[in-house]
Amino acid sequence: MSWKKFASLAALSLVAACAAGPMAPVQQAGLDPSDWPAHRSPTPVDQAMETRIANIVAGMTLEQKIGQITQPDIRWITLDEVAQYYIGSVLNGGGAWPNNNKRSTVQDWANQSAAYHAAAMRSDMAVKIPLIWGTDAVHGHSNVSGATLFPHNIGLGAANDPALVERIGRATAQQVRATGITWVFAPTVAVGENRRWGRSYESYSSDPALVGRYGAALVRGLQGRLTGDGDVVATAKHFLGDGGTFNGVDQGENRATRAHMIAVHGAGYYAALDAGVQTVMASYNSWNDVAAGRDYGKMHGSRELLTDVLKGRLGFDGLVVSDWNGIEQVPGCTKDHCPQAINAGIDVVMVPEDWKAFIANTVADVRAGRIAESRIDDAVTRILRVKMRSGLFQHQPAESRINGQASALDVRALAREAVRKSVVLLKNDNAALPLRAGQRVLVVGSSADSLSNQTGGWSLTWQGTENVNADFATGQTLLAALREQLGEANVTYSVDGRGVDPSQFSAVVAVLGETPYAEYNGDVRFPAPLQHSTLHPADLAALQAVAGKGAPVVTVFYSGRPAYTNDLMNLSDAFVAAFLPGTEASGLADVMLGGRYDFTGRLSFAWPGSACSTGEDGVVQFARGYGLGYAQARSVGALPTPATPMTCPVG
Ligand code: GLC
Repeated sequence: MSWKKFASLAALSLVAACAAGPMAPVQQAGLDPSDWPAHRSPTPVDQAMETRIANIVAGMTLEQKIGQITQPDIRWITLDEVAQYYIGSVLNGGGAWPNNNKRSTVQDWANQSAAYHAAAMRSDMAVKIPLIWGTDAVHGHSNVSGATLFPHNIGLGAANDPALVERIGRATAQQVRATGITWVFAPTVAVGENRRWGRSYESYSSDPALVGRYGAALVRGLQGRLTGDGDVVATAKHFLGDGGTFNGVDQGENRATRAHMIAVHGAGYYAALDAGVQTVMASYNSWNDVAAGRDYGKMHGSRELLTDVLKGRLGFDGLVVSDWNGIEQVPGCTKDHCPQAINAGIDVVMVPEDWKAFIANTVADVRAGRIAESRIDDAVTRILRVKMRSGLFQHQPAESRINGQASALDVRALAREAVRKSVVLLKNDNAALPLRAGQRVLVVGSSADSLSNQTGGWSLTWQGTENVNADFATGQTLLAALREQLGEANVTYSVDGRGVDPSQFSAVVAVLGETPYAEYNGDVRFPAPLQHSTLHPADLAALQAVAGKGAPVVTVFYSGRPAYTNDLMNLSDAFVAAFLPGTEASGLADVMLGGRYDFTGRLSFAWPGSACSTGEDGVVQFARGYGLGYAQARSVGALPTPATPMTCPVG
């Protein structure tokens, strides 16, 4: 039977199943996943562990099993409810802190963790099951005030240094364990294909091979040997195809062919699975292989992808966690009710607020036969396997020697090194860089003294907004770093470049950039053009105020995506793509001041040459892999500035 004919039969059976009623278990015909690469779990089966798990599961009530697969957010559950409802895990979403206090100390976090453990131990279960707490340490322990924050993934990709990423994983794991948390929702192994996507900066590269190398490195760094005091459980996310949606719409439709999905978007998972990643997070996006006429639907409801491919063909024996209310996007589902997602292969359901209704609905589903109890048993088995492999049954989080250690948050030296390696010199005409000690420098631009703009989204808060520099409790802006390295008296700051005479200075440093965003809030929806100067006119105005006024202009540009900036570059003698460097802008000053370090960063995404170009195949100004150093003094000169249309054409 041809693949097409088989696929259409399967599609017909899917339609028939849906017609049976909104909550009928949607059992898609298992299509042959043999075109996916065969993988086996690298973790040997521990028969004694498996026997212990089976005995525990056999002794659990249905309510206890459903509580174990339920993951509320810490804002919407009490300690007593953790015990009463047999909750298996919690998360703190972006912007959730103990006692709802953004400036919670490490000890506050560790105390909350210990309280969750005690609550889980208070349940009336025959065998108590420890709770596991998950968090988004997107670029360091990004929710915690005082934590050093690393460059976001787009910058790390430019460093092209997997060993550095492994070290970052190690340091991040220790930051997280200091707060009593043992599960991190990282690495994101998305392959970013469209800079319109608001999560472009969470992708390491448009190169699947680099994404694979980095995904494996971060898993190794985070997980270590899984049971150590400084180890955490890692998560490969978001499965599958989040970086390749049509027009870069976050949570949208990926229209890739099966071959492209397997070769490109699967690459990070093969590597992460081989590195032993213990959890995978399902993706919001859907997949519609338009060329083949095969619509796989939303990932959260796709049994073929979550079970047949991931758990079958790829041999994944850890747990699959849904994304934040991700189940509601499955046709026929709501935030608190989705047998389709559990039947598809979701093992832990991230249901932040509506978890009580979810538990009641899911118990009813099992009792009514809409979910086989064997599927629930499999999910609980996977959860217990991850908890036992990570030592949670042997040692509660508070027993780690790192627990409560505020000093673990401070990894500034490593972050500073990462910044040095992650920034890319795109232009350096007339040797405008390096700056020299003793020079008098004028600094302009609204990003020069903004920890928010240099750290971007997922920094203290979900969006990275509503923060002031003091909220970070650590970190250095580029203005502060230049003052430290050039001398306070040699650096003058004017946010808009007005009322100062650039000719009185050896050089001008213009620090420009995007303002923070996360997820769909960062989308630039088609057909809007993507030109920084139109989206952020104050940056253009600041540059125009100082350009060509008797001093060379060095522009430093913060962005979460490759950006169309030819007009800004034409007003600059030197131009540094700094992406989102995190809290340690001192690393930027290190490479900008001559003598000690050179620029070694190379673009991990194509840099566009027009406002409507969005990927590797559009109008590219600088190709992936491009980047200058002080030794490569080639002149860039004036760049073309094609007219920017009001709306971009369908491309
Ligand atoms: C978000 C993100 C996911 C994150 C989760 C928990 O919506 O999609 O990456 O891990 O929710 O914060």
